[in-house]
Amino acid sequence: MLLLGIESSCDETSVALCREGNLLSNVVHTQIPLHRRFGGVVPELASRNHLTAILPVLDEALQRAGVTLPEVEALGVTHAPGLIGSLLVGLSTAKALAFFLCRPLVGVHHLEAHLLSPLIEHPELQPPYLALLVSGGHTLLVEVTAVGDYLVLGRTVDDAVGEAFDKVAVVLGLPYPGGREIETLAGRGNPEAMAFPRAKMGPGDLDFSFSGLKTAVVLYCRRNPDFRDKAADLAASFQEAAVETLLAKTERALEKRNLPALCLCGGVAANTCLRERAAAMSARRGLLFAVPSPALCGDNAGMIAFTAWQALKAGRPSPLGLAAAASLPLPTRPC
Ligand code: KG4
Ligand code: ZN
Repeated sequence: MLLLGIESSCDETSVALCREGNLLSNVVHTQIPLHRRFGGVVPELASRNHLTAILPVLDEALQRAGVTLPEVEALGVTHAPGLIGSLLVGLSTAKALAFFLCRPLVGVHHLEAHLLSPLIEHPELQPPYLALLVSGGHTLLVEVTAVGDYLVLGRTVDDAVGEAFDKVAVVLGLPYPGGREIETLAGRGNPEAMAFPRAKMGPGDLDFSFSGLKTAVVLYCRRNPDFRDKAADLAASFQEAAVETLLAKTERALEKRNLPALCLCGGVAANTCLRERAAAMSARRGLLFAVPSPALCGDNAGMIAFTAWQALKAGRPSPLGLAAAASLPLPTRPC
């Protein structure tokens, strides 16, 4: 089945084509340069930019896949969660195409798509697995019991880990979004130079907290006027604390749930330090480990098309009246 996927939940306009779950094209137009001077995503600018980008991105995705619009057999689109104005652009486009082509429409939960993204390049991976979903807006530990059935084991009680990377980058004078910039700077620094806190929460707790770590970096910079001379050590010590915190909870979840595989997903899963440490931990515990290639970690329509394909196989198309939603819990399978 040839499926066309659309993603527009935040600041990436993306269209992808997949056939039987194999990606034929995955075009991503990022708005980062537009939002950079504001230090974060401006929702109104984001939705307007999706509007101008969506049709050229659609054309490019079709062209790169070597297919034409009438050949498309079904449409998948992110309908929640995200910025409502941004979601509406992708959803309206998908509905118009589904109506015009007389093809089924599948509404995709954005976080479900991140959770299934490791399956795209790892056919050997099968649920159940533990997924650490780390992005600019979310930090979740999820047991993927089956496709369509997700048990949230832990989540951040304040900042998402990507948000902490971005805020620390601002303090260090690095451009938005700062995750990759911090990683590059950290490569030249000593991760043990500064002892930043690792939030532990309760002993059996699987939740995360990153606001204390972020505040510790901010306070260090305020108290040390020469902090710019130590920027590499700061970045390395911050990254070390963030990665250690993520993996400590991940290991605790693995112990509790006794799952055979570990996956990383979301924008922060592109971080090499996190990938290497998670791979080493999985090897030590004898687990299968999977992480998408960096292009499939950030927001992209490839994972939306793939998830829609999975939903259609399970017989879960959506009505044309499907609504966009700024927030929506992850689906669980009724028992
Ligand atoms: O999943 P994503 O593209 O968008 C959503 O937030 O949904 O994630 C973006 C986040 C940003 O906070 C960005 O700084 C972070 O992922 N990020 C990284 C790296 N690449 C992107 N964080 C740490 N290391 C990276 N290499
Ligand atoms: Zn995302």
